[in-house]
Amino acid sequence: MQRLDTVELLDDPALSDAVVAEAYSDLARTNRWLGNTRAILRRLKGSGARSVLDLGCGQGALLEEIRDTLGLSVTGFDLRPAPRASVGIVTGDAVKDPLPQADVVLAVLMVHHLSEDEIVRLIRNVSHASHRFIILDLVRHWLPLWLFRIFVAPFLSHINAADGATSVRRAYTPRELRKIVNRAVEGTSACVRHTAAPFYIRQIVDISW
Ligand SMILES: C[S@@+](CC[C@H](N)C(=O)[O-])C[C@H]1O[C@@H](n2cnc3c(N)ncnc32)[C@H](O)[C@@H]1O
Repeated sequence: MQRLDTVELLDDPALSDAVVAEAYSDLARTNRWLGNTRAILRRLKGSGARSVLDLGCGQGALLEEIRDTLGLSVTGFDLRPAPRASVGIVTGDAVKDPLPQADVVLAVLMVHHLSEDEIVRLIRNVSHASHRFIILDLVRHWLPLWLFRIFVAPFLSHINAADGATSVRRAYTPRELRKIVNRAVEGTSACVRHTAAPFYIRQIVDISW
């Protein structure tokens, strides 16, 4: 499947706050159903981290869960100001703007929004703010695309149903993402762990410097 770099409906700056808030809530529910939230909590639990920064955090649902479950200090960072949020969120471009320091930085369902060069710049930018970066994203493959269309999309708003399918087609294959990450950390002492979940429902890249 060719990578499709189409802008998603949620990226439209003209959407009302109410529509954006509802789409982010739907996304948070989808992250729970797919086990993405649990996968992140599992990696943070017992890691010794005290602070977490989530890049492309939307309105901060994952951070609320991390704060309430693990008691960590949390900060969000997103291009778009959040319509509703109960955590602190900094507005900016994670690829090029200075980032707040944190023990662990996350990017969940965010890197498929970026080009290969932007992901390289993002990873290098994060290395100035943290010693650990966990990227969780989709896998571009027909299997998760059809699973999403059949089992998940019917329960979502039309924006999330359309964006979910676009996101799978916009995502990187594990091989592509690994190559991009290797380019970003080349010449550093970074340790990279990269896993893909069954049925390719997600991939996680865990980088430590
Ligand atoms: C698909 S949403 C994911 C939201 C949230 N992480 C979740 O899983 O529910 C992608 C988010 O990344 C943000 N984003 C995209 N590019 C970004 C960038 N360069 N810097 C910061 N945020 C970015 C978008 O504004 C959007 O909120």
